[in-house]
Amino acid sequence: MSGFEMTLSHSILAQKLACPFKYFERVESTNDVAKAWLAAGAPAGAVVIANEQTRGRGRHGRSWQTPPNEALALSLILKPEAAQLPRLNMLAALSVYDLAEEVGCEGVGIKWPNDVQIEGKKVCGLLPEALWQADRLIGAVLGIGVNVRADFDFTPLSERAISLEDGAGRRLDRAELIAALIFKIERWYRQIAAPGLFANWKSRLTTLNQAVAIGNISGVAIDVLSDGSLLICDESGRIHRTDGGMLQLLAADGA
Ligand code: BTN
Repeated sequence: MSGFEMTLSHSILAQKLACPFKYFERVESTNDVAKAWLAAGAPAGAVVIANEQTRGRGRHGRSWQTPPNEALALSLILKPEAAQLPRLNMLAALSVYDLAEEVGCEGVGIKWPNDVQIEGKKVCGLLPEALWQADRLIGAVLGIGVNVRADFDFTPLSERAISLEDGAGRRLDRAELIAALIFKIERWYRQIAAPGLFANWKSRLTTLNQAVAIGNISGVAIDVLSDGSLLICDESGRIHRTDGGMLQLLAADGA
């Protein structure tokens, strides 16, 4: 992967991507554009990419910052079976994990359910969203935000967030990163129903055997199930199953 970046543009991306895509210099949220495109009949594998988001959305209704020229912000349109929706988190986290290792990052891990971290700091957030018409699944949008060269030093996020270039120790090219990431997602997607996908995701989780809290449940994260849910054993030995929520690591938290 080269160390010199041409500014992201439609023509540069067109040289590297084989899939249908839409590129925006600035957009409110790539997930919103992708959902509208999906509703209008976009094919599986289509991608929406932006250089900047002005109303990027994160998990739990939070906002997600994508200033210009610093990050990857993309949303893939996929058409899995409904039963496989929980696996989108897994395959996307695995793909970003692989990408981070490929560019030379060390200490890469996945914080349940889908934050990719480098040395315990978040480098990527994922926002999968399904689009239904009554009880028919039209498809899903897999939103991916990766910090590439945001400088978190001396900001309130410095203990919790990191950029891929800091992990890799060199300049990276965002168009090349996007092409490599889409390639990895397509590869993991082919295994969406295979047991290996879950096994790989589980083996890369850094959350197991840690003291954690979600809402008013706290205890030790003891296991994950194949639907992606987390089992927490509380002080009294009672086991709680959770499939969402903001996980706090009680020792050191990367939010
Ligand atoms: C999180 O809260 O960790 C998830 C963040 C997901 C951000 C990405 S950036 C591309 C896509 N478009 C959005 O509005 N959100 C997702």
